[in-house]
Amino acid sequence: MKPIILTGDRPTGPLHLGHYVGSLQNRVKLQPNYQQYLIIADSQALTDNYDNPGLVRDNVMQVALDYLAVGLDPKESTFFIQSQIPELYELTCYFLNLVSVARLERNPTIKDEVRQKNMKDAIPAGFFCYPVSQAADILAFKADLVPAGEDQNPMIEQTNEIAKRFNFLYKQDVFKEVKSMVGSVGRLPGIDGKAKMSKSLGNAIFIGDSADEITRKVRLMYTDPNHLKVSDPGTVEGNVVFDFLTIFDPNKAEVEELKAHYRRGGLGDGVLKKRLTDVLENMIAPMRQRREQYQNDPEYVREILRVGTANARQVAAQTLSEVKSAMGINY
Ligand code: TRP
Repeated sequence: MKPIILTGDRPTGPLHLGHYVGSLQNRVKLQPNYQQYLIIADSQALTDNYDNPGLVRDNVMQVALDYLAVGLDPKESTFFIQSQIPELYELTCYFLNLVSVARLERNPTIKDEVRQKNMKDAIPAGFFCYPVSQAADILAFKADLVPAGEDQNPMIEQTNEIAKRFNFLYKQDVFKEVKSMVGSVGRLPGIDGKAKMSKSLGNAIFIGDSADEITRKVRLMYTDPNHLKVSDPGTVEGNVVFDFLTIFDPNKAEVEELKAHYRRGGLGDGVLKKRLTDVLENMIAPMRQRREQYQNDPEYVREILRVGTANARQVAAQTLSEVKSAMGINY
């Protein structure tokens, strides 16, 4: 039996290169050696988009297409839709008793999001508790590993606390410890030089972007604002074009030479941006092609989700039944 992965994404928009280096790349790499479950977390997305369920609904398809685009294979991995598995909410309900409000308040990712989304004194209870629902997602599948971005680490920590508390209280080893795995790049900067690429900040390059969009976005990319003339010495640190070349350019030795040249002076941003455009286009073109191919066959994608959700539901139901037995509420 293969070890188990459970991971996924909120369907609030198409996925971008930050998702790719943070998690999707790992998922593709681990796919042959793990039983992988991919959750399209629409209910979690609703915790801060309850006023716009249409957006969430539309993006379920977009996320599924992005998974297929990067090479996640529905024959090997199980794609499923969170809201279609009621067992997850029943588990959430029992887990909510195992977590204090004070502990929920300490979750750093929640704190960040409350600040970012300006929720302040009107935090929806559903949003506040989503780490518990995420613990249910992970524990329902008894996952060994969660490949995700570094902002998910606090969720995994909380999941392990809930698992331990459950086992201790109900005196059965239903759950085991789960580990997180962050991608080669914990946090990819946005094209504007902000610390994090994000759809809401408008600084993202998407997995389905056209060649023209890639060209346009690289042209906008933040470099060294003091590098005015080609002959000026330039700074590599904080220069997004170099950040991206370091991450995505397969020719590491040449990138090092370019850095030295840029520091000395005599290397223009235009040359570097042309190179980066080609590097990104080479990487994204096959993804875009696969994405378009599946986009033209939405019925097939819906079938993948239907079958995956049915299979995932069986696993969640089995775990729920063990949970209820351990608690003695299997009347
Ligand atoms: N929190 C994740 C996100 O923001 C989505 C998610 C829901 C998830 N349940 C999960 C991720 C379980 C990993 C494991 O996109």
